[in-house]
Amino acid sequence: MRKLISSSVALLLVLALSSCSGGGAQKPDAGLAGNEAASTEITTAAPADTQSGTPDTTAVTEELSNDMEENNGVPSITEDFSGNELIAVKRGSAILSVVQDDAAKDGRALFIEGRKESWNGADYKAELFRGNEIEVKGSFRSANKAVRVSIQFNVRGNTTYNMVFAVNTNDSSYTAGSGKYTIPASAEHIVVYIESDELKDIYCDDFSVNVCGDYTYYEEAAEALFANTSEYPSLRDTYADLFRIGMAVSPTILSKPQYAELVKAQCSSITAENDMKPEAILDYGTSVSDLDKYREAPAMKFAHLNVELGFAQENGMTVRGHTLVWHSQTPEWLFYKDYDKNGELADRELMLKRMENYIKGMMEWTTENYPGLISAWDVVNEAADDNGGMRKSLWYQTIGEDYIEKAFEYARKYAPEGAKLFYNDYNSYQKRKQEDILAFLKPVAAAGNIDGVGMQSHIGTYMSINEYMVALKKYVDELGVEIHITELDIGADKSDDWEEKQGKYFSRFMKKIIALKNDGVPITSLTLWGISDSLSWKAGDRPLVFRDDLSRKPAFDAMINARAED
Ligand code: XIL
Repeated sequence: MRKLISSSVALLLVLALSSCSGGGAQKPDAGLAGNEAASTEITTAAPADTQSGTPDTTAVTEELSNDMEENNGVPSITEDFSGNELIAVKRGSAILSVVQDDAAKDGRALFIEGRKESWNGADYKAELFRGNEIEVKGSFRSANKAVRVSIQFNVRGNTTYNMVFAVNTNDSSYTAGSGKYTIPASAEHIVVYIESDELKDIYCDDFSVNVCGDYTYYEEAAEALFANTSEYPSLRDTYADLFRIGMAVSPTILSKPQYAELVKAQCSSITAENDMKPEAILDYGTSVSDLDKYREAPAMKFAHLNVELGFAQENGMTVRGHTLVWHSQTPEWLFYKDYDKNGELADRELMLKRMENYIKGMMEWTTENYPGLISAWDVVNEAADDNGGMRKSLWYQTIGEDYIEKAFEYARKYAPEGAKLFYNDYNSYQKRKQEDILAFLKPVAAAGNIDGVGMQSHIGTYMSINEYMVALKKYVDELGVEIHITELDIGADKSDDWEEKQGKYFSRFMKKIIALKNDGVPITSLTLWGISDSLSWKAGDRPLVFRDDLSRKPAFDAMINARAED
């Protein structure tokens, strides 16, 4: 049975004794192993497959919450294995059971067998300890030389594995150990676990995890990480009379209230950073399951789009549909006759059918489910080659050089009224690349099938703002289109005052954009490619306008202030 502290009196008593709360059977300190270790980062990389199956923390959150009710609001894990109920769950291929063991204190222990890798063992899910210092205790018996207790958690998507303590073990009697660890407030999917470098069985007795000092409620711990963004001036409102302001988002971002609130306050448009790309939409399994049915019209899946499109709809935003025809993030199997990469490439006729059906499928599903929501489609993305001419992508190889014209022709055929059709590319301000782009877009413009050019604008503070603005205007003049800045991020340099310098650059960039717009150049949307620096696809360049805690960088203020002077 789990032993829990059931009153505040008991809690205070334990706090006074040890500074770490927690009941359960306690061994005197003298009994602790001499090799008890402080929290140390494990240097050897944990095996990738420990990450498979992110722990489901729902169950334990409920379980620990129940404990908390009996425990003065403080979570606690205390297991002496005297009953049959186990809090521990198996880790990897390990098999867990409670067994009779004469060497154990009450004659019963947790038995961990079937271990095939060093990290296999027993997991204790520990989400509610987030942001707190914990003390972990346990006694172990094993023919392995040592047993280790470690902690695993994710911080912004990266999993880390850290040792809490290790004990030197022997097969005949139990050795107790303990260690403390401070869990970052930003940690998620937190698991305390028992493992060992050797693969022999492990017996465990008297296992506990308790909070040291005052408990910080785990949701507050995460909350405290973020700046209060509610009073920020709004980019959306500041630019409302000039153009839409957007950000690239993901379902993960939108599921976190701090990010979602910021996006709502700052944006009138969003772009799905990855979810509308062909690799997220095309359904291989269904496509190959019935080639007669799907050969010309690959199967598509849309349900995941409800998160981003639903968010935009609820909050009165529009969406940039990104992207239909692209060489990247498009599965290679699409280009093969039987969707089989070992077989033959599909011929022009077949690929034209697939292209048409894919564009039709995207337009029909979005129009039916979210009428009027998608204001612009990036019909073709990045078709210019960095070394000149057209990129020799699989679209080019299978269809030929008119694939761009065809894509726009189909897009026009199926696009609902009001949805604008864009060509989108990076470095498209560079002279030579612009010449190439203009060359292949001219026939598209002549056919009346393009409405806009998207300048991705993944740039750095080295870029000539003047060259960029000249190029922007040239697209308008030569193609008669409008301009969206579709993926703006501006990489910083490595100097100490990088934030200020980047802010000044943002200021110069935005002032020029505003000036062009005021001169009548049809710039109708500006999207930032993400929210905060470490969530950027170019995190190393710290290219966005919010820091990781969502505090505003000089770049954000520069964007707001640029308007004050126009
Ligand atoms: C990037 C996303 O930001 C990443 O998350 C993804 O791993 C790769 O693609 N040009 C584009 C965008 O048109 O779709 C790319 O987005 C960045 C470059």
